[in-house]
Amino acid sequence: MRPRRFRVRLAANAKNMSIRDQGEVRPAKPGKERFDDVYDQPDPRAYFERLGPLDYQIPHHGQRVFRGLAATRRAASDAPGPVTTVDLCCSYGINAALLNHRLTYDELTDRYVSPTLARVPSGELASRDRGFFADRRHPEAARVIGVDTARNAVGYGVRAGLLSDGFAENLETAPPSPELRSAVADADLITITGGVGYITERTMQHLLDNVSATPWVAAFVLRTIPYQEIAETLSQFGLVTEKLADRTFPQRRFSGAAEERFALGELERLGMDSTGRESRGYYHTELFVSRPVQDAAEVPIETLVGFSAD
Ligand SMILES: C[S@@+](CC[C@H](N)C(=O)[O-])C[C@H]1O[C@@H](n2cnc3c(N)ncnc32)[C@H](O)[C@@H]1O
Repeated sequence: MRPRRFRVRLAANAKNMSIRDQGEVRPAKPGKERFDDVYDQPDPRAYFERLGPLDYQIPHHGQRVFRGLAATRRAASDAPGPVTTVDLCCSYGINAALLNHRLTYDELTDRYVSPTLARVPSGELASRDRGFFADRRHPEAARVIGVDTARNAVGYGVRAGLLSDGFAENLETAPPSPELRSAVADADLITITGGVGYITERTMQHLLDNVSATPWVAAFVLRTIPYQEIAETLSQFGLVTEKLADRTFPQRRFSGAAEERFALGELERLGMDSTGRESRGYYHTELFVSRPVQDAAEVPIETLVGFSAD
């Protein structure tokens, strides 16, 4: 990731103050910052403008890992046609963009904060994006099914040609619709960046109840958020969860002193050492990969994802 300059907009919630969110004033709560006001816009520009100054970067780390896992699933598959991946908390289709196109996260960010595109209406941006991504599409692109509660964001991902299918559903509160069930039935891989915490084992249970294949699950999870309950749910479906040892991935800078205090406090409570990681001002994630026990026994996670110890 190269360092970048952003027009820094001093968002009210950057210091855990009240924010105005689509007309509603949401009181500040101590804890992890939320960016609800940019999660469901008609296009991704506000999302990148807002998270860029915080050096949000977890989709960049996901790109290499998800590409590798999708390629492994494709190589092992007897079925013709593309690998099916389900991106939970897919937002505007960012992981799909990075999985399936000759494109880096920096290039994606540059596009969406570019002054040239700043005044383009959302509908036109979606159709320009469709061409932009089509020109960069990998021949062996995966079929990506996106799930997110943010209806506009998912709709954008579909219109821009990133998501084969998008579903604005909340699997925390209800099982999937018949359409979503049929779309995910043959999933090979489930991916998550920036989503665990918003979603829990409830979403995973609802999803896996409806997948007839045995998908792998790859999730980048903040160290402040335990993954144990999701791992236990996955084990009921025959998946063993491993954490990539000795390697963490920065997600983004803390939004301010209050969030930093909160995160460091959570880590202390969980008995985790923040030295050299969160102590440097960034949230860090761990990578969890869940596979059937035999797959896990055959190839160690470090080999699978191509990372050895630091
Ligand atoms: C930090 S963003 C991550 C987006 C994207 N994966 C990325 O890394 O750039 C969190 C996403 O979770 C979504 N979300 C929140 N609650 C959700 C839920 N219950 N089910 C699905 N998505 C949810 C939000 O709408 C938002 O798009």
